[in-house]
Amino acid sequence: MKKTQIGLIGLAVMGANLARNIASKNFDVIVYNRTKEKTKEFIKQYGNEHLFGETRSLSQFVASIERPRNIIIMVQAGKPVDAVIEELFPLLDSDDCIIDCGNSYYRDTIRREAYLAPKGIHFVGCGVSGGEEGALHGPSIMPGGSGENYVRLRPIFEAIAARDFNGWACVTHIGWGASGHFVKMVHNGIEYAVMQIMAEAYDTLRKLYNLSAPGIADIFEDYSKGKLGSYLFDISLKVLRKEDEFQDGASLVDYILDRAGQKGTGKWTAIDALERNVCVPTIAEAVFARNISANKKLRTELSATFEEFHGKNLPPLNKFIPLLKNGLYASILSAYAQWYDLITQASREEGWEVNLAEISRIWEWGCIIRAEILSFLHESFLDAPEWVSHLFAIPEVMSAFRESVPDWHGVVSIIIEHGIAVPTIGSSLSYFEAMTDNEHPANYLQGLRDFFGAHTYERTDRKGVFHTEWSDK
Ligand SMILES: NC(=O)c1ccc[n+]([C@@H]2O[C@H](COP(=O)([O-])OP(=O)(O)OC[C@H]3O[C@@H](n4cnc5c(N)ncnc54)[C@H](OP(=O)(O)O)[C@@H]3O)[C@@H](O)[C@H]2O)c1
Repeated sequence: MKKTQIGLIGLAVMGANLARNIASKNFDVIVYNRTKEKTKEFIKQYGNEHLFGETRSLSQFVASIERPRNIIIMVQAGKPVDAVIEELFPLLDSDDCIIDCGNSYYRDTIRREAYLAPKGIHFVGCGVSGGEEGALHGPSIMPGGSGENYVRLRPIFEAIAARDFNGWACVTHIGWGASGHFVKMVHNGIEYAVMQIMAEAYDTLRKLYNLSAPGIADIFEDYSKGKLGSYLFDISLKVLRKEDEFQDGASLVDYILDRAGQKGTGKWTAIDALERNVCVPTIAEAVFARNISANKKLRTELSATFEEFHGKNLPPLNKFIPLLKNGLYASILSAYAQWYDLITQASREEGWEVNLAEISRIWEWGCIIRAEILSFLHESFLDAPEWVSHLFAIPEVMSAFRESVPDWHGVVSIIIEHGIAVPTIGSSLSYFEAMTDNEHPANYLQGLRDFFGAHTYERTDRKGVFHTEWSDK
């Protein structure tokens, strides 16, 4: 057998589909999996003139790849990645490159890159989004690591990636070091938040307007034709319209237990933001919302002790639908501002040199958060003056807010008045209000802090640090 251009380890759903995608673009790829039966089955089903399998040993697998070698790891994040690296380590040569395409925590990527560097082995932390369909037909790919490694991997990445709205590959060199895995982590945090924003809209429509799941799908379908167009709205229609197989005429979604799972990427994003002193309230609230949902037993007990409160000023549905649409759009836009702020701050602190226009572009297609809004953000960053330090400072973005803010206020106040929890829609609005307000109540906080702890304060009318004896003892 001739040597292959790339190797891939890990044949669960993502690795298997990625290998098939690579082979379908005429790159020779050899695959390996810890459980050898899986490799045998996979090759029996999908093996062809570009797709090979190795079941004898990892060293045979390594020896089958052209040097300098490129080896993708697509195994479970965490310890399995370290286990695979440990096994590969003695088998690799200087200038070989390991590309971790799983959802690894970016700080692990920093550690692994440093561990392999003394032996001259390159390590690329690479985010891949799009789920199993994306991996097979075109994901959005977020590689970090050095520019030289990107140049080396680029032909394969560009061939297998999805295409953006202008036909370019949804891949870019995100930046140095662990930036690829960091940006993938934030991408997943965005996924949490956008889904929670949409869930709050669904909750409002079913509870305040007694709409059925298919009725809500009709409204979301209308939303998805305009500026809210997105993969998540598209799949919502399918989820909301799915009939239940056990209950005649019922919607499946009405029988799904209201307890959300999570794998941790939203929590990582929120924790990272806190550590960097960046505000991402919408992601944090989305994580909290899942935590609250998971507490089903307590919620059920407490709901029996509190009579629901509903206001009396519910507008007719046809008036509410456009308000909600603008409220959703502004909420998502405000949340994007938070995430971009986090990426900007991390890039500055870590020296990654990420490009927000490019990140928006490669999220236009292939990934789970693909959406019309990303095209708008891509164009906005391209047009933005260099000094722009926040999404809200881009004039086109601020104009979009100006158009939506009155409806956003209206929709949040109606929902809250009628007793529905909207933590992400509400926090997106509060973030926007706070960030565009030059008069915070922090003066009052500083007074309290100085009173009880002599923490001092600054003044608006003169320079220096001040402390006051506030009471007469
Ligand atoms: N599923 C998705 O939609 C999705 C989307 C984007 C990214 N990702 C990320 O992509 C990666 C792969 O995801 P997945 O869902 O395809 O698979 P997965 O369930 O996360 O991982 C299963 C794979 O890991 C291997 N593995 C586990 N422990 C190992 C160890 N100690 N040593 C060697 N191999 C080990 C398994 O080998 P065996 O067959 O021998 O058990 C199998 O190939 C993950 O990091 C995941 O978070 C997943």
